Order: sequence, then structure tokens, then C-alpha cells
Amino acid sequence: MSKLQAIKYDAEKKTLDILDQLSLPHISQYVPIKNVDDGFDAIKTMTVRGAPAIAIVGALSLAVELNSILVAGSETLNSAADTANYIHERLQYLVKARPTAVNLSQATTLLGQIVDDEAATATASGKSIIEKVIATAEQMLADDVADNTAIGEHGADWISALYPGKFSVVTICNTGSLATAGYGTALGIIRSLHLRNTLEHVYALETRPYNQGSRLTAYELVHENIPATLISDSMAASLIRAPPRGTSDNDDQKKVKLIVVGADRVAKNGDTANKIGTYQLAVTAQFYKSQGHELKFVVAAPTTSIDLKTPSGDAIVIEERPQHELVQVKGPEVIDGQVQSGAAHRTVHIAAPGIDVWNPSFDVTPHELIDAIVTEKGVAVKDAAGNFNLVDL
Ligand code: MRU
Repeated sequence: MSKLQAIKYDAEKKTLDILDQLSLPHISQYVPIKNVDDGFDAIKTMTVRGAPAIAIVGALSLAVELNSILVAGSETLNSAADTANYIHERLQYLVKARPTAVNLSQATTLLGQIVDDEAATATASGKSIIEKVIATAEQMLADDVADNTAIGEHGADWISALYPGKFSVVTICNTGSLATAGYGTALGIIRSLHLRNTLEHVYALETRPYNQGSRLTAYELVHENIPATLISDSMAASLIRAPPRGTSDNDDQKKVKLIVVGADRVAKNGDTANKIGTYQLAVTAQFYKSQGHELKFVVAAPTTSIDLKTPSGDAIVIEERPQHELVQVKGPEVIDGQVQSGAAHRTVHIAAPGIDVWNPSFDVTPHELIDAIVTEKGVAVKDAAGNFNLVDL
């Protein structure tokens, strides 16, 4: 089975192609990213999306742009100071593509620091600065896959120790290979549970308004043969109360014992911004826990999603998306119950024309509702005082 790859980067040729996530799941096509302008547009339009993926595509879009300056030769190469200024301008532009996920601004800050460090050396040149930036962007891509694999393993270790045997899982948005450089964060934990044969069933929320769950997570789950069912966002509470079906007749195995979500930004106190609907899931989980239901609400994210400069969720900027993303849907036509897969996609309007629309893309889940945060460094579990501490696995 071919591996799903949102980001295809050729380190020899310095070319970048991204899987067009606006055309999935019906059309799988890659689009080239040749410079920062292409990277910015791909991030803003959500051709690429997911906190880690947008940071990596942003960084690599700068790498390919700078490489074409290197390839063009010495006439186009500026002094160290001019090169540094040019790169800073490009980074300042790039970071404005989307505001909520901290990964993009962490990446641009790191690249800016690399530029300044190299520019301050006695041997600095335009070329040496560019080479450092390219190497750093390439390292981000490599690190992300390793980090996600570690997140998957740590999360699966922790939850399996709490709940030995099989159980079901709920997740929202898309946090898999399509939202990262590979493997995934929350979906990485689900993947690891499945590989250990301890996942009974996963329920993926469709994740309105933009349907990352039904379009992308469902696509990954089908692709990976993970036992899964799609539900609408409003079904989660009923599902947790009484799961409809699973792959076994064992009621305990059918029970949802884990809700696992990604993160776009985790504030210093643990408050977490993630796809709109996450907060509602956390509130639901809290109710069931108070009723004695065995259940954990877990955030899975690389440490690049942790923002220690933001004290709490109140300071997180929530992106508002265009109104049409709530009231219009795009896909192949259905004729006589048959999806016309090969046909051109159509956009249809599903709301009353003229109605006002509010379309925040994210919400903030207060840390009080989160049981644990899984990063590549381990699992930080909330203690009685509300602080998150790494535990031994
Ligand atoms: O608006 P999106 O699709 O970029 O939002 C993505 C999410 O909210 C994900 O759950 C989060 O970024 C984690 S991605 C591993």
C-alpha cells in the first residue's frame, strides 16, 4: 500500500510538491510550490493544512526560493546583510498566512535566528546564510516524522497501561499524515493502538464546517484499513453513552475510553487551541467522567505546538475563515446514488441565501478539561493541582 504523503520534498533537486487537500478525497494530485508566494497561498487557502504541515511547507517554500537564487549564480547573490534582510522580509510575510497554529511562527522565528546567527559570523556570506536556512528547513521535515512516531508510541503506552485490552476512540479534525510530515499526532496514537491490536474502533467526527474529518481523516482511515466510522459532530455525546457497533460483541471493548485531539497551539497553562468542536468534545468528556465513565481527554502535539510565551488560551488569536466555507460544499455529483468520481467537482450552496455566518476555525479547550498532553518527549499528565507533569512510561 502506498504511503500517504502530504509533503513531497526532493532534497537533491530542491523541489517541493504538496498534496492538494482541497481536491481530496476524490482527486489525488500534487501541486508544485516554487517560492514563498506559492507557500503562503497554499497555507492560506488550506491546500495544505494542519499545524505541523503548514510550518514545514512554509519553511521549505523559503528553502526552494533561496535555492533558486543560489542556482542562478553569483550575480543574483547579495551580501550577507542584504540576504539576511531579504529573508527576514520573506519570513514576516509568510507568518501572516494563518494566525492560530503556533508552529508556523515558531518555524519563522527559528529560521530568523539561524539567519542572524550566521550573519554574525566572520565568514558570513549570502551563500552561507542561504545554505544554513535550507539545512534548517530540511531538518524540520525530518524531525516531524520522528516526533510523530514518538508521540504515537508514548500515547499508546500510556493509555494502554490505564486501559488494558481493546477500547474505542473518538477524534476530531485531521491530525494524520496529511496534517504533518507523516504518521500524525492524534492519529499517530490511533495508528499505534491499531498496530498493537488494542484499538477496537475509531469514530471520526466530520468536523464541520470544512469537513477535515470526513474528507481527510476518513480518507486516511480507509487507506490504512483502520476500523472506523464517520459521525457528525453532534453525535459524540450519544455515541459515548451507547456506542452503536464495533468489530466485537464485547460491550467493554466497544466503550469509548479515549478522546484524542491535535493542537494548533498549547498555551503555557495547558489551554489548547484546536479545531472548532474540540471544546465541545472536552465538555462532553468531563460530564461522562463525572458520571464514572472510564474516559480520558488527551491532546497530542509536538513540542513545536507549545507556546510558552502565551500564558493562557485567552491570548490565542482565533482565525475566522471566509463565510463560504460554512455554507458551500464541493465534490463530485451524485447521480442515481452513484458518486461520479471522474467528473469535475461542483460547488453547491447549502444555506439560506443572505443569512449571516460566523465561522471561527478553532476553539480553546481550558486545561481543566484536559487529562494529558502527549508530545515527542513523553506524556504530561495533569495532577490534582492542575499542573501537567511528565510521567514515567
Ligand atoms: O484548519 P486546519 O485544518 O489547519 O486545522 C488543523 C487542526 O485543527 C488539527 O487538529 C491540528 O492542527 C493538529 S494537526 C496535527
